[in-house]
Amino acid sequence: MGKTINLMIDNCPVTVPEGTLIVDAAKQVGIDIPVFCYHPKLKQVGMCRMCLVEVGRPLVDRVTSQPVLEADGSARIQFAPKLETACTTPVSEGMRVVTLSEKVRTVRREMLEFFLTSHPLDCPICDKGGECPLQNLTLEYGPGQTRFLLEEKQHLGKRVPLGELIYLDRERCVQCARCTRFEHEVVDDPVINFHNRGRALEIITESDPGFDSIWSGNTTDICPVGALTTTDFRFAARPWELTSAASICNQCPVGCNIVYNVRREAVNSGKTGIKRVMPRQNEAVNEIWICDKGRFGYHYTESPARLRQPLVRKDGELQPATWDEALDLVAEKIGAAGSGLVTLVSGRLANEDLFNLRQINPAGAALLYTSMGGGDLVGQLGVSQGSNFGEMGKNSVILVVACDLHEEAPVWWLRIKQASERGATVIVVNPRPTRLDRFATYGVRYAYGEETATLQALLPEAAGASEAIRKAAEALRNAENCVVLYGSEGLGLAGSTSLAQACADLLVKTNHVGRANNGLIGVWPNGNTQGAWDMGFRPAEDLSGALGKALVAYIAAADPAGDDPALAMAVDRAAFVVVQELFLTETARLADVVLPVMPYTEREGSYTSGERRVQRFYPAVKDQPSSGIAALAGPRADYAIAAQIGSRLGLTMEGRAPSLIFNKIAATLPAYASLSFQKLAEVVEQSPIVGRTDLYYGGTTYDNKQGLGVQLPAVPMGNLPKVSSPPKMDVPAGSLVLVPITRLYDRGSLLLPSKLLHQRLAQPAIWLHPETAAAFGLQDRMMFPVTLSGHTQDVSIRVDDTLPVGVGLVTRSVGLPVNQPVILAMSHT
Ligand code: SF4
Ligand code: FES
Repeated sequence: MGKTINLMIDNCPVTVPEGTLIVDAAKQVGIDIPVFCYHPKLKQVGMCRMCLVEVGRPLVDRVTSQPVLEADGSARIQFAPKLETACTTPVSEGMRVVTLSEKVRTVRREMLEFFLTSHPLDCPICDKGGECPLQNLTLEYGPGQTRFLLEEKQHLGKRVPLGELIYLDRERCVQCARCTRFEHEVVDDPVINFHNRGRALEIITESDPGFDSIWSGNTTDICPVGALTTTDFRFAARPWELTSAASICNQCPVGCNIVYNVRREAVNSGKTGIKRVMPRQNEAVNEIWICDKGRFGYHYTESPARLRQPLVRKDGELQPATWDEALDLVAEKIGAAGSGLVTLVSGRLANEDLFNLRQINPAGAALLYTSMGGGDLVGQLGVSQGSNFGEMGKNSVILVVACDLHEEAPVWWLRIKQASERGATVIVVNPRPTRLDRFATYGVRYAYGEETATLQALLPEAAGASEAIRKAAEALRNAENCVVLYGSEGLGLAGSTSLAQACADLLVKTNHVGRANNGLIGVWPNGNTQGAWDMGFRPAEDLSGALGKALVAYIAAADPAGDDPALAMAVDRAAFVVVQELFLTETARLADVVLPVMPYTEREGSYTSGERRVQRFYPAVKDQPSSGIAALAGPRADYAIAAQIGSRLGLTMEGRAPSLIFNKIAATLPAYASLSFQKLAEVVEQSPIVGRTDLYYGGTTYDNKQGLGVQLPAVPMGNLPKVSSPPKMDVPAGSLVLVPITRLYDRGSLLLPSKLLHQRLAQPAIWLHPETAAAFGLQDRMMFPVTLSGHTQDVSIRVDDTLPVGVGLVTRSVGLPVNQPVILAMSHT
């Protein structure tokens, strides 16, 4: 620990590290100094003057340079004639701070009077009412009356859309610049700004589409008034009507800690509805931020299209059935199928669901629906206990290969950006530019297909081909800590497995495994893909063949038929198909039995993030019928369905509560040994202290009372596989390789019900370098018919000279069956 400073704040002794600001020192001993412009995660600007306090320092004799002492031997304290801003003044030895004198109260009253001169005082209809620092401070310190003229107040139109997600109410803005500073400083999206001067100053958006940032919702948390509100929550509820449930976002492998705010309401027939999603502090995961997909993408959980009753195929049609009828039939078929059972799952499921599904097919194939390999290596060499991007800086290397983190795992992008700003060496190895390039120390480009060879060029024994590779290799060799994140852009299962092996080899040979802030991270497509690997599921080398031959294909939380017509044919060939789902997907339409499931917001469980942090989520919507006829017919939790089938098969399985299943996981898997739901629920105080009652400090982020989760320890290394050669693609002349890329806002079935995000959804398009477009006679923005797996669709051609030559990029989940690189025969289209 560095030097510490001792001071007194309101007669309370405080010891804090040198350089701490008065406002933060006070916070640590429970003294709240009101702020508007200050935020512990932003650089201080000292603009609003709300934090003025009296500050005294020990008097020093100018002649002798010795402290002047009182008669009792204590240091004489000299207070400055003027108040000082607590948010810009660092503490000093012997300092005395007074935060509640009459002088301070007077200044607070006067500052609030100024703030209110241009404020509409519309608290009764303002969404921030109930959690508004301006309202709360006015009640505590503000004047009952104003000396300013009502007629001179600003009268501006309300509800200015800054984009389709965020509204601005200009009259309410206190000009603190928290929103603009957050977008510029924290997330590097300078898309909103101050415009005009003085009273006419207002926030404007300078991007098209408006407020073009995937982080926009965070500004509504830190705006200290109701000037910024989300379209989703505006006029939806009052904060005091809401209850909250801790949860984990499952949209990507980061595993951000969140809170669902819910309310029972008449429009929902008296049932509980989700009103908003808020960040929950976990400094090792998402700090106090979440991306807009996590905040606004939850509407699928309440979609009217959700399945509510089991369906069984009779006379060629799927028809409503009772649970007993459906489960009896499924158990009978599984019992008869023996090793002909193929279970296919995705990383959307919780650990408890996956563990139970694994139990019902010990002899059959347990398949993971993904074309990205290497999860077994991450299980061995993943970052271990105590890893935290927030603590990486100088002496650390973070290498990112074959992915676009800003789109695939936004909070990892943000935390790596911050690590780079703290001095970490960031190496970005990618075939095309991404938003991490701006924060990269070394950028290495390669042609699609050269991923493994490029990583191997970074090995200590390799002779680096280019300057960037040589320097990057040297940084890797010398770094104290190194984390490698690998994705699967441009790669299928074999290619990404080979890349993961090359990454593992690099980490082992540079001695960056088995300790905190070292190891391998998979940038997985789903929130719990790592959990699925840990529970024993593996991707299929030939999914079509496996499904097509199945006597029973049991498919949970995956829609292969919707993604690829070729897989639809395979599902159709299976002798008997069971689908466990939220919606009647294309795969469900082909099923013999469809089992409706609860979304994760209605039950509890755990997920394992890409950083191998096991985290617990709690039920947010608890009033789904749990007894009576409705409960007998309605959706059930995935783990419970698996257990009910297991008991029909004569297996001893746990289906009563996820905590009990988790105990079984802990007893079975060495990496999970000693974990329990109680352990996952433990918390330690987070710094900075946010949440609680003083919302002016950290904003409306929730503090974490329900669990920080537990990162898995390093697992003793077994023999690592040799790095396999990646497959080569034979591209016939006149053909184009289409490479799928991931966009944050795709057209996945879980995002489509969130209508708010529709304007941002990726459009079906093929992105090409101008040379490639010219070679095929294509022009920017022309429509072009593409035929793949017998399915034809018109897509727009988009030309971009920053892309690599010779390939076409397509966004996943836009209707084209491109989940790994495919060859498009141009002459046939
Ligand atoms: Fe501050 Fe809110 Fe105004 Fe932005 S909109 S300057 S956060 S008061
Ligand atoms: Fe200190 Fe604004 S000047 S909080």
